[in-house]
Amino acid sequence: MIRNQWYVIASSDEIKEKPIGMKRFNEKLVLWRDKAGKVVCLFDKCCHRGVALSKGSIVHDHLQCPFHGLAFDAEGKCVLVPANGKEASVPKHYFVNKYTTHEAHGFIWIFWGDTDKIQSEPSFFNNLYGMHYATKKDPWKAHYSRVIENQLDCAHVPFIHKKTIGRGNKTMVDGPKVVWKKDDQFYMYVYNKLDDGSQPKKPNELKEKPEGSQRLEFIFPNLWQNYITSKMRIVGAFVPIDDEHTILYLRFYQNFINIPLIRPLVHWLFMKFNIKVAHEDRRVVETQRPIISRLNIGEKLFQADLPIIEYRKLREQLLKEADKSAEVS
Ligand code: FES
Ligand SMILES: [Fe+2]
Repeated sequence: MIRNQWYVIASSDEIKEKPIGMKRFNEKLVLWRDKAGKVVCLFDKCCHRGVALSKGSIVHDHLQCPFHGLAFDAEGKCVLVPANGKEASVPKHYFVNKYTTHEAHGFIWIFWGDTDKIQSEPSFFNNLYGMHYATKKDPWKAHYSRVIENQLDCAHVPFIHKKTIGRGNKTMVDGPKVVWKKDDQFYMYVYNKLDDGSQPKKPNELKEKPEGSQRLEFIFPNLWQNYITSKMRIVGAFVPIDDEHTILYLRFYQNFINIPLIRPLVHWLFMKFNIKVAHEDRRVVETQRPIISRLNIGEKLFQADLPIIEYRKLREQLLKEADKSAEVS
């Protein structure tokens, strides 16, 4: 996992006023909404004797440990040790670590790293405004880097998805074309075709498709969009649980059905299909070794893997930068 990045970690509707525990980045976290509705995220371990704070409750807008009643504010500072009496001051070293949170577009982000490295708000797709969506959580037994790379992989489609989205035996891959749009965001255009005996076209022989055409978009570190048409998209957030587990938050967006009564049924049907397709991938991605992808792991990549190579290059760079800043601080 790359430090000093904003990561989507949950869907907004999962976080309520009641504290909830979840594992992310190999750490146990507790999240809840304070009185103002803002999402708070602390380490899920009481500094007194290690109990999971997610088993506690909110009392006067503080999270109270169920064991001996220590109360923590939204910064993780302990504000009450009941055994010492409510008049006693609480020593400064009574605290639990916290993460900075951000909520937008129905997702919760945390800044995973050092707060002094926060420069801006998290990036998101700017072309989903006004669309309706449905979300499904899908657990994978794989590192999030492998799950992401699968969504950037054009050559697998006619094999893994031969009965669904990969029908037609388009095994030959022209390009693909990768275009960086921002420091942390690229588009990729897929040009799969029947093997007609020709040589695959090189990426630089291909042009960007016109605006509105099908493309894939990726935003570091963990957001992906399949821009199918202006009216229909699939978005994935790849949420790291630990080195061997990821939750794929899969969303279907559309704006062609506006009738509220029919919408849930349409969303359900599309999500059923999208999850079926994702499970075609999951079956093989879970077998990939090494578990964690890096730039140089001895894989024999070919031209069609260009988007994966682009992903790995920036990932490697960000990992190095994060290491460097850890050495300095
Ligand atoms: S373990 Fe939390 S108050 Fe004692
Ligand atoms: Fe796939």
